[in-house]
Amino acid sequence: MAIRTILHYPDPRLREAGKPVEAITDDVKKLVADMAETMYAAPGVGLAATQIGEAVRIFVIDIADEGEPSDLKVFINPEIVEKKGKLEWKEGCLSFPGATESIDRASWVKVRALGLDGQPFELEAEDLLAVAVQHENDHLDGKLMIDRLGPLRKRVLHRKMTTNAS
Ligand code: NI
Repeated sequence: MAIRTILHYPDPRLREAGKPVEAITDDVKKLVADMAETMYAAPGVGLAATQIGEAVRIFVIDIADEGEPSDLKVFINPEIVEKKGKLEWKEGCLSFPGATESIDRASWVKVRALGLDGQPFELEAEDLLAVAVQHENDHLDGKLMIDRLGPLRKRVLHRKMTTNAS
């Protein structure tokens, strides 16, 4: 396992859509292990493969509170098949260090994906987990939280991310 470099906005690789995973190979398992290690080290509650420059449809999420046992969820070829309700959540993103933005999301989603064992599963999620699923799923389409902001906040965040570029 290895901690990988997380790409920061406006790195153009964040705009690449992920390709479907065709088989759960050892390389895929290694990538997922790296993603989990990278997410925990950051620390963050979610990470998409596209954020470490791997254009494949995989994300990982762990929303367990500090002090709780970890609860790693791996989503391969995820698809949000149902959405309900609305909420506004203050979101952060490891590709936008230091930024938090209020973003409108569905308050409930049903997501279908493959697990690391190659088996399909369905998950119904609400609140933080629903937000995390929608946020990470956006990454796999090359979509970022800045795209969901109004024009003024978009400009402010873009400026913030490009003037203190690290
Ligand atoms: Ni993100």
